Amino acid sequence: MAADANVDSLRVFFALWPGVALARRLHACGRRFRIGPGVRLMQADTLHLTLVFLGDVALERIGELKAVAESIDFEPFELQLNVIDCWPGKRITWIGASETPDALLSLAGSLSARLDEAGFAHERRRFVPHLTLLRKSVVPAARQTIAPLQWLVRSFVLVASRRMADGAHYEVLGRWPAVRPGPLRAG
Ligand code: 2AM
Repeated sequence: MAADANVDSLRVFFALWPGVALARRLHACGRRFRIGPGVRLMQADTLHLTLVFLGDVALERIGELKAVAESIDFEPFELQLNVIDCWPGKRITWIGASETPDALLSLAGSLSARLDEAGFAHERRRFVPHLTLLRKSVVPAARQTIAPLQWLVRSFVLVASRRMADGAHYEVLGRWPAVRPGPLRAG
């Protein structure tokens, strides 16, 4: 994508990106809640939890953005995805957590603060951790609690998004691991 001669900026965001097994389970979960006509089920390999959305960033500043990511220290943490909800205005149905781990707030918060220091404009709306499962949801799903899907978060990514007729296409530009294994089980 970055090699495209006509492109001088990329639409980017930092995110948590689930592994293949969890992404499949999330996708299956989305399918269960697909109600109403024309609803778009997000593909398993596009599912993510946005930490900070930047929007368009000049290509020559992508290196600086990676340096910001490099400067972030965080330990692995567990996220229990156990809530299905929707935003009727945005027409999305999403999955999130009834309890947000401090480690997640602190990861998103430090990224946001470092981006400020480095002079990057970014989205400032309140951070509501979620993964969008369905788009163009016309019939709002009632908020409900489900059996938790467990996510051991061990890295975060920088992603470029390109809007196409069939939805957004994503390219992972970089991945940064947690600083140490921590006491959590691998899974
Ligand atoms: P969403 O899933 O709730 O739409 C790529 O667009 C990712 O960045 C999506 O996960 C999207 O959240 C999120 N995002 C956050 N702020 C955004 C904004 N102002 N415009 C577009 N996407 C945004």
